[in-house]
Amino acid sequence: MKRLFKILAYILGAVVSLAALAAAFIHFKGVPTYAFELPEDLASLQVPRDSMAVAQGAKIASMLCKECHKDFNTGKMTGHIMTDLPKEFGVVASYNITQDKIHGIGEWTDGEIYYYLRRSVRKDGHYNPIMGGFNLMSDRDIHAIIAWLRSDDPSLAPDPKEYPENQYNFLVKLLCNTVFTPPVLPSAPVLAPDSTNKVALGKYLADGLYNCYPCHCADFKTMDTKVPERSVGYYGGGNPMLNYEGETVPSANITMDKETGIGNWTIEQFREAVKFGKNPKGGPLYYPMFPHTALTDNELDAIYAFLQTVPVIKNEVVRYKPKD
Ligand code: HEC
Ligand code: HEC
Repeated sequence: MKRLFKILAYILGAVVSLAALAAAFIHFKGVPTYAFELPEDLASLQVPRDSMAVAQGAKIASMLCKECHKDFNTGKMTGHIMTDLPKEFGVVASYNITQDKIHGIGEWTDGEIYYYLRRSVRKDGHYNPIMGGFNLMSDRDIHAIIAWLRSDDPSLAPDPKEYPENQYNFLVKLLCNTVFTPPVLPSAPVLAPDSTNKVALGKYLADGLYNCYPCHCADFKTMDTKVPERSVGYYGGGNPMLNYEGETVPSANITMDKETGIGNWTIEQFREAVKFGKNPKGGPLYYPMFPHTALTDNELDAIYAFLQTVPVIKNEVVRYKPKD
């Protein structure tokens, strides 16, 4: 008996020191870097910069880039410290993406920006686990974002604001050594769906373009960025998100469940909520939900039609109430 106990203690000791070793390894290894290989067609990429493309890019950016990259005092795209990220992620700044050649992305080529938006990997191999890579977006929309980044929009004018390299905490390092990896570059052109197919268009807008699903699934840690519908709690909400004050604001269940989701809402209520941030029960919807003012009624209707096809999830979310 004593002997068995001793053996068990040895095994336990070995397991504990192995785990400690693995933890130390991940701590010092940090977030992995990745090979940056620009295929020929990207090395020579020059996206069209006509006013239509710039306007489309500005529209997408207003709903996809600004919340993270805007300096709220100046309105410029010089980034900010993201106080709305979980504390266990470390101190993280969204970087300066103005046209400044040193501190911004003024020297990046169209191909390098394309590669970055797809994979979240920079020329020096650095992987950005927060943005993650827009792997489902159509080429046309990615090109439009690049056209906008190159445009004379005053929020993008060169600005020397600078941040130290982000210091990620253990949790992010661990996730980046296990589940978070850069998506691969698409092997064929990515086309947006036929816009007359309402449900397909809605799925593209909600999953591929405007990133509704990451916030509206159960947790960022269990979402599937390659196949969004495999995310745990897809559109069932409850993702414990933070506002700028660090308070938890769980996302809402926007499946069509009649009791715990939005199954009883009218299309008008849906439009007002998504476009203007109005809660049909009165008052506003709270950040990190934000008004998607640039969405057209046609796009809102398409997203609504798509949500009608999403499997219903019964999940009563205890919603955020501000302290008064
Ligand atoms: C959820 C927040 C978030 C969103 C949304 C987001 N970004 Fe970022 N972005 C970040 C963070 C954080 C970093 C820096 C992270 C790191 O590299 O450690 C970053 C880095 C970048 C960089 C690289 C800058 C550099 O010098 O390394 C570019 C370019 C960029 N973002 C462009 C965009 C564009 C364009 C959009 C919209 C299509 C966008 N981002 C949307 C958070 C975000
Ligand atoms: C950055 C995270 C985030 C993004 C992106 C986001 N949402 Fe939300 N959404 C939330 C949160 C958090 C709430 C809950 C706010 C509250 O409790 O006041 C919410 C609430 C809602 C509501 C209200 C539901 C109710 O029961 O009151 C609807 C509808 C909604 N979102 C739809 C969308 C759609 C459609 C998109 C994409 C176009 C989207 N959201 C993108 C985080 C997000």
